[in-house]
Amino acid sequence: MSIQIPRGTQDILPGEVERWQYIEEKARELCKRFNYKEIRTPIFEHTELFLRSVGDTTDIVQKEMYTFTDRGDRSITLRPEGTASTVRAYVEHKMYGLPDQPTKLYYIGPMFRYERPQSGRYRQFVQFGIEALGSADPAIDAEVISLAMEMYKGLGLQKLKLIINSLGDQESRISHRTALTDHFAPHIEEFCSDCQKRLETNPLRILDCKKDREHPLMETAPSILDYLNEESAHYFQKVQRYLQSMGIEFEVDSRLVRGLDYYNHTAFEIMSDAEGFGAITTLMGGGRYNGLAQEIGGPETPGIGFALSIERLLLALAAEGIELPLGKGIDCYVVALGEEAKDASVTLVNELRKSNITVEKDYLDKKVKAQFKAADRLEAKFVVILGDDELERKVASIKNLQTGTQEEVALDSIASYLMENRDR
Ligand code: HAM
Repeated sequence: MSIQIPRGTQDILPGEVERWQYIEEKARELCKRFNYKEIRTPIFEHTELFLRSVGDTTDIVQKEMYTFTDRGDRSITLRPEGTASTVRAYVEHKMYGLPDQPTKLYYIGPMFRYERPQSGRYRQFVQFGIEALGSADPAIDAEVISLAMEMYKGLGLQKLKLIINSLGDQESRISHRTALTDHFAPHIEEFCSDCQKRLETNPLRILDCKKDREHPLMETAPSILDYLNEESAHYFQKVQRYLQSMGIEFEVDSRLVRGLDYYNHTAFEIMSDAEGFGAITTLMGGGRYNGLAQEIGGPETPGIGFALSIERLLLALAAEGIELPLGKGIDCYVVALGEEAKDASVTLVNELRKSNITVEKDYLDKKVKAQFKAADRLEAKFVVILGDDELERKVASIKNLQTGTQEEVALDSIASYLMENRDR
């Protein structure tokens, strides 16, 4: 049997890749507008980084990481997400010392999680994410959320639901944790073995359990919002007020628990409520992670960010029936009739490309009719027809495929003719 692609990964072929490029370009433009700068970090990191940041009680660390020992006997992991690497780089390069603060970064790249593949869930997927480090101003929380909304709205998506929650500061979380332990402990034997462990290690994770989702104690579990101390509650109110002032609609859901351990204060997700989106409706997730930089050896630094996958974004676009305005088609196809014309077409195509014209020619000795068909398939705006007798007169015919009109143009004016006429 021939070798096939690994489960949960995909090849993105021409025809589809243009949609990815369009979205990536939109993300870059958006980050420029919001003044976020790109950072590129390695695809693999020391495993320790994810244990300390994502957290060793999370599903990602316990079940989903691609971890291996390299030839130097180091434990290495393919990055399951981008925040840990970004914060590591921020600390390692002392970016907190840069004059412009907060440090606002973005990334677009592949992430790896050993999950059960299904629609919208892959083992390799591409995240676009942003991280703002060095500010504990609730206005930056609102900025980060608004950038995510703008990304989706800018592409035409409408069926979106923004959910926010606060996980509070450490003090608030400790009192909530005690309440959760008291709530679940008397009935913990009714829960799955993972949850039984979670009761000891991190009872908040019980709320995120997929197996025990329907257990009645989930519904009545103590809400973090009742355990926020004054400072945390005030912070959360400020975030909400900023969002309202920006006209961004949201719902507060005290049961929103993110799947990573580094969060505190603001947590948020954007879901698609488009019909036909499928079982997984979360498009984007993010939150605040004050203290993460310190956790991996840096100074105490507030931070917040989000990440979304392009795979789920594409699914949402399909579910809402949105076609991206992709500029398909080339400027020109050069059709050669005869041997000399064929030779001349090689140099002509080269000249036109140097003049910034997108151009293609035949390399398979196709008949004239087939060359015209190829021009149609490539959605060429013009066909330049080179014939041996025209060559003698140092001219070529240029046919506009949209209007059907045809003109004779001097060989040395073809580039300027095409440039003048292609954008009309
Ligand atoms: P996350 O919720 O684990 O958060 O992932 C963020 C987004 O990545 C999800 O909402 C989804 O769009 C996408 N995603 C996750 N897993 C998969 C998968 N298996 N297949 C396709 N898409 C997937 C984080 O990764 C955090 N680092 C976000 C963040 C940034 N928080 C603060 N800054």
